[in-house]
Amino acid sequence: MRSRIERIAVSTGGGDAPGLNAVINAATLAARNRGWEVVGIRDGFNGLLTPEDYPDGGLIELTRDRVRGIIHQGGTIIGTTNRGNPTAFPVHRPDGTWVEVDRTRELIDRFAEHRIDALILVGGDGSMSIGQHLHDAGLRLVGVPKTIDNDLDKTVSTFGFDTAVDFASQCIDRLFTTATSHGRIIVVEVMGRYAGWIALNAGMASGVHAILIPEIPFGLDPVAALIADRERHGAKFSIVCVAEGARPVGGEVSIVGRSPGQAERLGGIGAKVAAALEEMTGREARTVVLGHLLRGGSPTSFDRLLGLRFGGAAVRALDEGRSGVMVALDPPTVDYVPLAEATRRQKTVPLDCDSLLTARDMGINFGDEMPVHSTIGR
Ligand code: F6P
Repeated sequence: MRSRIERIAVSTGGGDAPGLNAVINAATLAARNRGWEVVGIRDGFNGLLTPEDYPDGGLIELTRDRVRGIIHQGGTIIGTTNRGNPTAFPVHRPDGTWVEVDRTRELIDRFAEHRIDALILVGGDGSMSIGQHLHDAGLRLVGVPKTIDNDLDKTVSTFGFDTAVDFASQCIDRLFTTATSHGRIIVVEVMGRYAGWIALNAGMASGVHAILIPEIPFGLDPVAALIADRERHGAKFSIVCVAEGARPVGGEVSIVGRSPGQAERLGGIGAKVAAALEEMTGREARTVVLGHLLRGGSPTSFDRLLGLRFGGAAVRALDEGRSGVMVALDPPTVDYVPLAEATRRQKTVPLDCDSLLTARDMGINFGDEMPVHSTIGR
């Protein structure tokens, strides 16, 4: 039986993604129009778990005034964190070490203390798994999928991805002119964790010559051969787009480090690839790491709309008495899928998807096959 809702909370967790404020806007308006109160929890769940860190007590009243004019803004007005997992909350010890503590029960109690009847949890795969756990522990909640990486299963797309691909493509367009002028190899490293969606889509959209993605362990002989072939045909520059999670055949993913309570930080593969290609081809190589630039800025209209649609659908789901589900894009509509299904596996690039096949047909090299087509048209 569905119980009446009077007050809901919105939380944004994990890395930010353009479109989060659109979700907050639509969810707030849809809830207020039902007569519900809405609060935002600061920085994931930290506003509830460490309220002493916040002058306002960790909750922010989401009024119509507060959410006005935010749809086009990047980031999230309520803040986020990727080190606030309540099931493994990092607690520092006086000796400088840290332990992970399960604070689930305490968190659920805080929701009750603040008279919060239900939660809209906006986040990536980590947040959706936390959502499943909190739902099992008795919290009424609906998940909203976000990530620039597009690696969440059961939704055709996540918001933030389109903006990231669009901006990465614009950056690579600029790299083409300087690479051409200097006759250089430029290796551009993009985010995406263990999925190659950003590298594949941005690389194709900007016409790069090689794309290295986590789904296809790479060798550099094919890429060097392609560069040499281009040079023989008069093209002295080449652009390689590498996903941060790409790894060589038989080698490891490049990891920069890990902070308490966080997933490992990926990075550095671009510089390694550039150094190796310079050595192999004798041609000067440079590296550009786009990094967090892909998470910033104003969302594209696609991501704004997706954020708005997800925010509205999440409120309708709660109103219909649903819980433990994630809203998901299933064109032409937004549907609901059980969190348990959405978190079962990571959505990586299928090796037989048409984008990848088309890229190969165009002669784009993935570091797994010696070049057979010329890339001289590009
Ligand atoms: O998941 C989004 C993402 O931007 C990944 O692409 C990247 O590996 C990671 O977050 C970076 O996280 P942080 O903000 O902790 O550096």
